[in-house]
Amino acid sequence: MRALAAVVAGLLAIDSGAAADPGRAIFEGQPGAAGAALIGSARVPIQKFACRNCHRRDGEGGGEGDAPPITWQALTQPTEERPAYDTRAFARALSTGKAPGGRDLSRLMPRYDLDEEVVAKLIAHLTRLPAEQRAGVLPDRIVLAVPVQAGDLRLAKALEAAIVARQPPNGTHGRRIVLQMLSGDMPEILTSVRSEATAVLSPVHGTAEFTAAGIPVLFPLAAISEADDPELVRSLYATREQLHAALAERARTDGCSLDDGATDCALIADGGGAVVGDWADTTRLYLTVESAHALGPAIVGIGGTLVIARHEAATLTRAAATEQEPLDVHAALVAEILLDALTVAGRDLTRTALMEAIGQVARPDLGLSFRPGAPSGSDAVAIYVVNPKEDR
Ligand code: HEC
Repeated sequence: MRALAAVVAGLLAIDSGAAADPGRAIFEGQPGAAGAALIGSARVPIQKFACRNCHRRDGEGGGEGDAPPITWQALTQPTEERPAYDTRAFARALSTGKAPGGRDLSRLMPRYDLDEEVVAKLIAHLTRLPAEQRAGVLPDRIVLAVPVQAGDLRLAKALEAAIVARQPPNGTHGRRIVLQMLSGDMPEILTSVRSEATAVLSPVHGTAEFTAAGIPVLFPLAAISEADDPELVRSLYATREQLHAALAERARTDGCSLDDGATDCALIADGGGAVVGDWADTTRLYLTVESAHALGPAIVGIGGTLVIARHEAATLTRAAATEQEPLDVHAALVAEILLDALTVAGRDLTRTALMEAIGQVARPDLGLSFRPGAPSGSDAVAIYVVNPKEDR
């Protein structure tokens, strides 16, 4: 068990290694960001003092200590307090805290130790930010990208139908939601989404490729992690951590021991077909629906009882109660939350504003609300008990 957890953790650590874009990495505090923050005489990992913590993800400011806007467009304009920044003035402000014109910036603004090259990358990121933040935001519409898996258009069509059925004829604040269906390989999809869509909607698989590029991911089908950044990921469903907690709790009430060496019960910590051999003889196997998928056909070879936790309980219970297809229920929930969020977000829409607005949507009638700082809108877990042998 512990060995499996270690293998999975090891892979994740490799995955989040060197940052792809050094400028974005510093701005957002991604793992692998180069340089350090200087707090008093201490060098502190730069992730602790990412620019977006205070200047917000869109660089428009207004966060902690009422930090000013720092998009390159804003910095290169003179203000009443200071002349315009150029590259040298910017580098000096970061390292010494002196603004052009000589004023000392307040201590709320950390000092930084960054290479010249890295400062240039940071400036490139600050220059790109305004356009990136408004990707897919057009005067009369907002474009969301739906990745299409293996030509299966059912989800995309369900989403489109649900949105069309609910959105006012003139849109929300003058904008209608338009879905762009994307197929092809990941690099191609990323290229289109980067510049043409505000967010990715309901991808079937992972979110990491998108979020690493600063692209928000809305309502993925797969379970997300509690550690996902709510400024970039919002899910309608329970997190992986909540699934595991629910499974462990269920095992406990079933009187099962999940300790190392126990043979009667086992819990699969994460997906991966490779683990099936180890668990084939167990009497009760606790696992998530994603692990069950990963095991594939091998799952029917398991002798005992399967206790499967599903994160999409918010949809499944509603689908069962209303006798609708889960896909249609998912699409309806997505459409409702999106349209509520667009109303809250107002006309001045950015990626950051949209994500914040989603966090403010509370729909107790749908069992959905986002706690501050939490990426997930529901902690409901559905548990199913099946016996593959008897099922056959
Ligand atoms: C802990 C909060 C915090 C973090 C983190 C932070 N800043 Fe600031 N920043 C501020 C505050 C507050 C001010 C306003 C200081 C003042 O005017 O005296 C400021 C001011 C600035 C200014 C001066 C703007 C002007 O108009 O003169 C620049 C440039 C700046 N920050 C860039 C950055 C960059 C780049 C990063 C990341 C590498 C960053 N800041 C991280 C809080 C922060």
